[in-house]
Amino acid sequence: LTAPLIDPFARAIRYLRVSVTDRCDFRCVYCMSEKMQFLPKADLLTLEELDRLCSAFVRLGVEKLRITGGEPLVRRNIMQFFRSMTRHLDSGALKELTLTTNGSQLGKYAEELFAAGVRRVNVSLDTLDEAKFARVTRWGRLPQVLEGIDAALAAGIKVKINTVALKGFNEDELFTLTEFCAARGMDLTFIEVMPMGDIGNEDRIGQYWNLRELRDTLGTRYTLHDLPDRTGGPARYVRLGETRQRVGFITPMSHNFCESCNRVRITCTGEIYTCLGQEGHSDLRGPLRASEGDPALEAAIRDAIALKPKGHDFDYSRQTVEGRVSRHMSHTGG
Ligand code: GTP
Ligand code: 5AD
Ligand code: SF4
Repeated sequence: LTAPLIDPFARAIRYLRVSVTDRCDFRCVYCMSEKMQFLPKADLLTLEELDRLCSAFVRLGVEKLRITGGEPLVRRNIMQFFRSMTRHLDSGALKELTLTTNGSQLGKYAEELFAAGVRRVNVSLDTLDEAKFARVTRWGRLPQVLEGIDAALAAGIKVKINTVALKGFNEDELFTLTEFCAARGMDLTFIEVMPMGDIGNEDRIGQYWNLRELRDTLGTRYTLHDLPDRTGGPARYVRLGETRQRVGFITPMSHNFCESCNRVRITCTGEIYTCLGQEGHSDLRGPLRASEGDPALEAAIRDAIALKPKGHDFDYSRQTVEGRVSRHMSHTGG
């Protein structure tokens, strides 16, 4: 086992999230504004640079690699990158290669992902109602995503559904979403909406649904058994006595989980963000491009980790968006 990267608060960094594109084929209302300005493609790290960067992190002890975006599967030739990461699984250095996706391209790529060593994906799905789905994603087609989910399951990939809990939007679907996942043997995780990026006229405070409330409602129908084990991510889980499925809660707003943070993020342009809820970041593209050898890059990674803050400053309590982070979730990949 490689000695892990350790941050100033003695947390070991074993989990790297890499955004491979800021683009997405949807525009979820809580995530993006309708008219997003995307980066020129020339600004993106090349697939070779992404490989070098991720490989450096693996050498520095990262065991879990999650590919995100935007929508990672809309990046051209992205399968080439997944396949290039397979060698780290084969060597045993990497324990998990996975992605977070909106599911729209899974029908096309599920088998190739499995072949590259992906055994688990997280799919974002906020509603099972076609009209509501088209509204929340601004134009997404629900059947395409459901086909993608089925394709992943058929390929042998475990699927976890991520649902952003939105007041007045999917409150009434708590039980249908739970049953949908139970029927397919999928875990389900609810996420509190976070104040990130300008989303036009949408109102995040109005959208915010505290997961303690959601959990209580779930408890009216199911027996909730707290699970001590985590997946290395931020969710806390319960098992439902009646269906045996796991339901997770990601509660950055109502119950901060920063003390157990084990992760950092890379943007598609090669910046490292050591906290999702902070503006602080460092450049890794410079060191990456400046040298053929990797010592300078590894030093830059260590320097960045040394600046990892204690936690985020998100805050709805003032009933304003003061505690907002100006970049969009898609910039750092959630
Ligand atoms: P598992 O490996 O299944 O545990 O996945 P994960 O929860 O680590 O990854 P996923 O991409 O499904 O994350 C779901 C959401 O959790 C992200 O999109 C973020 O919204 C949120 N999240 C993940 N890490 C953090 C974090 O460090 N801070 C905050 N505030 N939110 C986070
Ligand atoms: N708050 C919480 N979750 C968000 N996501 C995107 N934007 C936000 C936000 N502002 C979710 C997506 C996806 C995951 C990567 O992050 O729905 O599940
Ligand atoms: Fe795309 Fe995901 Fe953002 Fe929706 S939440 S617009 S699917 S990146």
